Amino acid sequence: MVEPLDKKKLDLLLKKLATNFPLVVNLSHQKGGVGKSTLAYNIADSFRILGYKVKLLDVDIQNTCGGLNGLRETPFEDIEKVADEARLVELINDSSTDGSEILIIDTGGFDSALSRLAIMGSDINLTPVSDKVTEVLAVVQKYSQTLGEIEMDTDTDVSSYVLLNRIHPFAKHFEHIEEMIEESAQMDMFKSIVRDRSIYDKSFIDGRTIFEAPELKGHENAMDEMLSVCYELIEIHVNKG
Ligand SMILES: Nc1ncnc2c1ncn2[C@@H]1O[C@H](COP(=O)(O)OP(=O)(O)OP(=O)(O)O)[C@@H](O)[C@H]1O
Ligand SMILES: [Mg+2]
Repeated sequence: MVEPLDKKKLDLLLKKLATNFPLVVNLSHQKGGVGKSTLAYNIADSFRILGYKVKLLDVDIQNTCGGLNGLRETPFEDIEKVADEARLVELINDSSTDGSEILIIDTGGFDSALSRLAIMGSDINLTPVSDKVTEVLAVVQKYSQTLGEIEMDTDTDVSSYVLLNRIHPFAKHFEHIEEMIEESAQMDMFKSIVRDRSIYDKSFIDGRTIFEAPELKGHENAMDEMLSVCYELIEIHVNKG
């Protein structure tokens, strides 16, 4: 977990973020079922709760975030299904003019021209992965190869942060994973960790985020983890800034 930020440091970060809008965060991994949509949906709400104008772009043909939104009593109005490259470029480039401060992209578990565009056009790529060695290997060997290809094609630096997701609540040691990630020129370790919590799936039954499900077990901890992810994203972005 990242250290909780003190109020002064947080105020400074938030001020700096305002001069670096929009922040474009892409959840991407060509492997399915690692938590891209779950995190995109909840990170978007986390930023809404922090007071930002958010847009969640559902680039996945499965339309998971759009589908969850359809289950809601009152759907979010800031979720858009994006099916073509022209619209994605327009949104990334024009997000500040339409007032969006934070763009969250859910790219789906497949490799395509559209998902590569999302990877390229984002300020920060986040790749969720479990702490299983085989899964981490897939990221280090296969996914970083995809990122390398995008770099070659576009002549720009492309990288992604590995976000440990669905981690057992008591697991503490991830040194072996960090060592594997260090091997890859394209991957860095994200410090915040998201634990395996039943609240994610249960809150989805009626399209809610974890923030909207105070009656479910793990609510407080899940909120802390999501907010920690947001603060770390802000910190990375303003430091790059
Ligand atoms: N931190 C977590 N704790 C518990 N369950 C989780 C967590 N993250 C994801 N899940 C569960 O894992 C399953 C797969 O998650 P999700 O659909 O978000 O993956 P995905 O990467 O978007 O998959 P796809 O590639 O098919 O789009 C879902 O049932 C989700 O509720
Ligand atoms: Mg998905």
